[in-house]
Amino acid sequence: MVTDNLAVLFVASEADGLIKSGGLADVARALPESLKQLGQDVRLCIPAYSRIEGVHEAPVVLDTELTFWPHTQYRVRQLALGEVCVYAIECERYFDRPEMYAEHNQAYMDNGERFAFFSAACLDMLPKLNFKPQIIHSNDWHTGLVPYLLRQRYRDNSFFHRIRSVLSVHNAVFKGVFSYDELRCIPEFHTKHVPEAAVSASHITMLKAGVMTADKIVAVSPTYAQELKTELGSHGMGREFQQRSGDLVGILNGCDYQTWNPATDTLIPANYTQELDSLLGGKQACKAALQQRLGLPEVSNAMYGMVCRLTHQKGIQYLLPILAQFLEHNVQMVVVGTGEIGMATKLKALAEQFPDKLRFIEAYDNELAHWVEAGSDFFLMPSEFEPCGLNQIYSMAYGTLPIVRSVGGLKDTVIDYGQNAPEATGFAFYDPSPEQLLITMLSSLLLFEQQPEKINQLRQRAMQQDFCWSSAAKHYLELYRSAIEKETIYR
Ligand code: GLC
Repeated sequence: MVTDNLAVLFVASEADGLIKSGGLADVARALPESLKQLGQDVRLCIPAYSRIEGVHEAPVVLDTELTFWPHTQYRVRQLALGEVCVYAIECERYFDRPEMYAEHNQAYMDNGERFAFFSAACLDMLPKLNFKPQIIHSNDWHTGLVPYLLRQRYRDNSFFHRIRSVLSVHNAVFKGVFSYDELRCIPEFHTKHVPEAAVSASHITMLKAGVMTADKIVAVSPTYAQELKTELGSHGMGREFQQRSGDLVGILNGCDYQTWNPATDTLIPANYTQELDSLLGGKQACKAALQQRLGLPEVSNAMYGMVCRLTHQKGIQYLLPILAQFLEHNVQMVVVGTGEIGMATKLKALAEQFPDKLRFIEAYDNELAHWVEAGSDFFLMPSEFEPCGLNQIYSMAYGTLPIVRSVGGLKDTVIDYGQNAPEATGFAFYDPSPEQLLITMLSSLLLFEQQPEKINQLRQRAMQQDFCWSSAAKHYLELYRSAIEKETIYR
């Protein structure tokens, strides 16, 4: 029977407010919070990385060992993230490290074992804590073994019998590929024959294990749900996603408008609303402050911002070949981010070549990200692929027009001026090429220089868009209910 209020365990490898490396952390914080506001009993489970402030001082609610071999000892500490109860799984040998996943761009050698243990412990702790959720919601490869173990290990266990699993796919390029030998800590893998997870005779992927065994699968945008069913869009797992297409849905992530609201943002130099005078005055003040901070001349030229990891996913390879040509125009640009060394080197060289026009800040800087969103006229996201993307949504909230490649969540959120001027909220292109990006950037510049009143209309329309979490959370609730009502295909 489906009751009105659900009990949900949300399992993730990171959560904003405790520890964060990317967009997954934003979702792991905001979605449980929104579900909680809708009256659900949602609890979050993450590893107790020693970098989480105060984690080792939090109360211990369970001190135990895995019931199954290899009987690893662990503790569960209880923290809170807003209203949400957080279970942090503490095991020094796995999580007492300077970083979450990698040091100096080198992934920890035992990441397979670390997250296999974490996935096993998330389930092991439940009867011991006497918490019986109806749904366990795992995220990406790190917790891909949760649905698998629920199905295999706990198949005949009455405590787990009615629990259903949901897996969210935030980025299928990361699959968690490990050899059976690296996963000795999962006895189910000792046979070295696990077809639902295998990618070769010797290796499995944790993402595949999750996709093949979860009761429901969520892609973080509707377009990404479609893309995942292709080999290209899923980075080689098209067949698996096609096989599960009856249980695959796309739900667009929400935006945390408490943090990203130009009217109340305490990090930016001036606050503003979508009312025209406020918008124009506020953006001008934010732009001037940004120029000063970056040491760029205070001119009224169009300012292009970009904040991202320097990787192929983000489309830096389309920007680099045309950047010098674009910078010949009366524009300014700021790029903030860290990542691939080759890309950083090229950006540095270009910044030296155009000292009055381009700044490259090689850093991960949350405050500067807010300044760039507020002080830019346009925000670049020419991603090769983008499961959802959040910065384009933040940009729109700040009246900063996104220039995006029309893929994944970018396609679902930004309406292109070229295709649909009356409803446009930004600029989009499709062909993955530097030329198409250049053409799109130039058309945005043309509009900026020749029809500023149009730009202001677009800005106001962008600011009126509402991608709130509460509506995303309602979709998740429906999905949870359909998972509960569904007779699981596996038992
Ligand atoms: C990943 C994806 C990004 C998405 C985020 C949250 O970081 O690359 O597109 O917005 O997860 O789901």
